[in-house]
Formats: sequence, structure tokens, C-alpha cells
Amino acid sequence: MALVELKGVRFRYAGSDRYALDGASLSAERGEFVLLVGPSGCGKSTLLRVLNGLVPHFYEGDFEGEARVAGLDVRSTPTHVLARHVGMVFQDPENQLFLSSVEREIAFGLENLGLPRAEVRRRVREVLKEFNLESIKDRAPYELSGGQQQKVAIASVMALEPEILALDEPTANLDPLSALEILSLVKRLTSEKGVLALVVEHRLELALKFATRMVVMLDGRIVADGAPRDVLLRTGSIVGYPPVVVTHLLLKRRGLAEGSIPLTSEELARAVIGRWATRYS
Ligand SMILES: Nc1ncnc2c1ncn2[C@@H]1O[C@H](COP(=O)(O)OP(=O)(O)OP(=O)(O)O)[C@@H](O)[C@H]1O
Ligand SMILES: [Mg+2]
Repeated sequence: MALVELKGVRFRYAGSDRYALDGASLSAERGEFVLLVGPSGCGKSTLLRVLNGLVPHFYEGDFEGEARVAGLDVRSTPTHVLARHVGMVFQDPENQLFLSSVEREIAFGLENLGLPRAEVRRRVREVLKEFNLESIKDRAPYELSGGQQQKVAIASVMALEPEILALDEPTANLDPLSALEILSLVKRLTSEKGVLALVVEHRLELALKFATRMVVMLDGRIVADGAPRDVLLRTGSIVGYPPVVVTHLLLKRRGLAEGSIPLTSEELARAVIGRWATRYS
């Protein structure tokens, strides 16, 4: 069975007359980096909330369909059990960090799991090293920059060793370089540790570099799902084309580039160089 399995999930928040999820089906496996995009209000955050059970346990409403995470039925599994399998990080890490030091912050979730002290210490040390946070381990999270806070939030969640990481606009408040660093880190977790990452990210030009799969939502439904290049080709009018694609299109129209749409600047450069090599060889 897939690590995440949603079948025809419909959810309507209590008091609302429309469905935030309206028949969403998704199946995802270990090691995938799933980029989740779509216009504001299409249901991305709601879908992530289903994975850790916030929907329907915390946010009440009408829930239909089937949602399984790590084999557990989300509706009948308490959120603290789901939390062992799904690490969730929100757009604004400040709301997730509340302790006096980075080290305490990372240890907190582990202590809550009831792990022995030696194991807590070992995992904290490992995560501090892995996320390159050793130099700021004694600082208070509230005095850190947005990018550092985001890293601490992801590190605290990853210390719990979840198989699934759900990130809701994790780079929204960050400069492009910090955003790139966070997404590279997530990519490493997927490729080296087999973590399944589901990432909501509006800045396609950043995320397409890393995604192995792209899922597009519209009005509570999944309208496209597959290899990022194919999905972008089909849904660019919904999600918008990143600058490399627009540049490629303009160059191609003038006969200055070749090939299918590029997802990164490196691919764009190759499309241009390739065209010139063909022209002058
Ligand atoms: N707590 C809530 N109570 C009632 N309705 C909600 C709640 N949260 C979201 N909704 C509604 O559910 C729908 C889907 O919202 P959701 O937040 O999942 O969209 P989104 O794709 O994450 O949007 P954005 O890109 O703006 O973050 C919207 O119509 C929204 O108004
Ligand atoms: Mg959202």
C-alpha cells in the first residue's frame, strides 16, 4: 500500500456551504518530492491537514471518502499517532517554535514521545549537525531570522523521523537563497532517507528544480498529476509559467532555442546552446 492514499476525499468545513476538498484522490510513495500547486483557496492546505488528521479531528466538518497515511485510517486514528508518521511545517514557523533554545526546541517533541534521555540526546546531536544548526543551538528561536526559524521548525519535525513531511508554503517568507537552501534540504531528505515530501510552493521557478512530481489542484480537486514537465505543459494557464519557460518560448519563436520546455536555468541554457550548435555545425 502507498504511504499516502486518498480516495475521493470530500471535506466541507463546518458552517461552510462549499467543499474545500471535492473528490481528491492521491497516492504517493516513499522518496517522492511532490509539488502541490493551484490557485488560492483550491484546497492545498486542507489536503495537507488531512494527512496529519487536523482535518477532520481539529477542524470539524463533513468528511467523505477514504484517507490512509502509513496504512492508518486518518479518521479513526488519533492525531498524536499520525504525528509520528507525518511531520508538518507551516508557512509561519514562529507559531511552531516556543521554547528557550534551538536545542530545547528540537528535544521537545522527542521527550514527548517518551524516548530515553540518551536517545533524545543522540537524535538532537544528529539533527543539529545534519541541518547545520550547531552554531545557533543555544539561541532562542524568536531571535533567529525567518530562514533559520524555518530550518529549526523542519529540524524539530525531522528529529521525530517521520516518513512523511508536509510543508505548507515553507519558503513564503524567505529570500530566494534561503528558500533554495530549505528546498535543497528537503530534497536531500527525500533522496537520501526516502522521506515522502509534499510541498506547497507558489514559486515554481524554485520548486521545479527539486520536484519529482507535480500535482495541480483546482476547486478542491486534483486536475493534473505527473511528471513536472508534462504537468506544467498542460496546466501552465492555471498555475502560470515560470520565467525560464517564458524566456524559452520567446527564444524558440525566434529560432534561438530548441527542445521541450525547460524547468531550470541550466536546461534553458542547454536549449539555447543546443540550438546554436545545430545551426553552426
Ligand atoms: N478553517 C477554515 N474554516 C472554514 N473554511 C476554511 C478554513 N480553512 C480554509 N477554508 C476554506 O476552504 C477552501 C480551501 O482553503 P485552503 O486553505 O485549503 O486553500 P489553499 O489552496 O491552501 O489556499 P492558499 O493558496 O491561499 O493558501 C477555501 O474556500 C477556504 O476559504
Ligand atoms: Mg494554503
